[in-house]
Amino acid sequence: MATPPSNRNTGINANLKQPLGFTRTTNRGTGAVSSVLRRDTTAPKRATFTPSQYPGANSLSMQAQKAGYSGVAARNPQVVPAQASQLTVQSRTVSDMQYRRFAAYIEEKSGIVLGESKHYLVNSRLSSLLLRFGVPSVDELITKAMDPTRYKEISDAVIDAMTTNETLWFRDTYPYLALRNMILPDIARRGKVPCRIWSAACSSGQEPYSIAMVVQEQATQMVHVDPAQTQIIGTDISPEMLERCRAGLYDNHALARGLSAERKAKFFRPTEDPNLMRIDDKIKSMVTFKQMNLLGSYSLLGRFDVIFCRNVLIYFNNEVKSQILDKFALSLNPGGYLILGSSESLSGLTDKYEMVRCNPGLAYRLKSYA
Ligand SMILES: C[S@@+](CC[C@H](N)C(=O)[O-])C[C@H]1O[C@@H](n2cnc3c(N)ncnc32)[C@H](O)[C@@H]1O
Repeated sequence: MATPPSNRNTGINANLKQPLGFTRTTNRGTGAVSSVLRRDTTAPKRATFTPSQYPGANSLSMQAQKAGYSGVAARNPQVVPAQASQLTVQSRTVSDMQYRRFAAYIEEKSGIVLGESKHYLVNSRLSSLLLRFGVPSVDELITKAMDPTRYKEISDAVIDAMTTNETLWFRDTYPYLALRNMILPDIARRGKVPCRIWSAACSSGQEPYSIAMVVQEQATQMVHVDPAQTQIIGTDISPEMLERCRAGLYDNHALARGLSAERKAKFFRPTEDPNLMRIDDKIKSMVTFKQMNLLGSYSLLGRFDVIFCRNVLIYFNNEVKSQILDKFALSLNPGGYLILGSSESLSGLTDKYEMVRCNPGLAYRLKSYA
């Protein structure tokens, strides 16, 4: 969870999850690139913060300016200056008692384990929400967030803020080679139709869209899965990330992470904004998105031939990891594959899968008697 702000997601304006220089027209004020996100050409001139300046730079003025781009600030400009002037270091610092309540709450709601001493993380991620919601302190924001019946928007935004959304195209390369060279040919040989692939915890969409590109690319091979008969489902706990996924718009910074020039030319279309590209409809139409908490039930999603669950289990405790892995086993078709993050393994967590070496990397296959 301790990923520095500059490394999160696209790496831009990570605490607010919105690229600098953009403004939104929806009620939710923190999305980065969506159909309602535009370059902010009308905003008054303000200081420019580069990602390299940003880590650790949590001064009130910077946060106020950043928050001023969006959300409550945009809707309700008269509120912001008054509140900004009220915010003190103390009001942006979680008390020890509130930290412990919050850590227990966030683990129960999302599985994310904060541990004993991530106060700095809570402070940095939640203090940027104070102006947006007009709440005077992190402690009070937490109290409201823990009452989702009354404060659903705050509660969702707080869980959003506590998730780490770092992702990139074709992350780690080998899962996509395994998909192209071994897994899809195996599914094609078995004549499995439709082919269903789940990207669980898909963040801003790079993972499921990379999968869709691979499915398109392998369609030129002799034995292949039909892209028109392939269903890819991306799920995440974060409504904001799903909004970005559905928009399918990516800025140049995000596009530079893991995407070859060839794939960029083939699978993205220019927009009127030179900093943004839109994912091609052929890829977009292969993927549907749905909000889903991995702690909940997966039964409504149906069964899958492949599950990608990468770089999210690391945030959970072993008991939660085991439960999730066993639920994945129930969600896989016979012979189905599970692909984890490069630092994640099944060791000591479940016996329902067998390891398959892919050279490079590895995948897991559901045991026939699991
Ligand atoms: C680090 S990203 C991984 C994205 C992608 N799988 C990858 O490997 O690049 C982790 C994602 O897990 C999501 N997440 C965290 N807790 C979750 C939960 N309980 N249920 C579903 N998604 C969750 C976060 O919102 C975030 O988008």
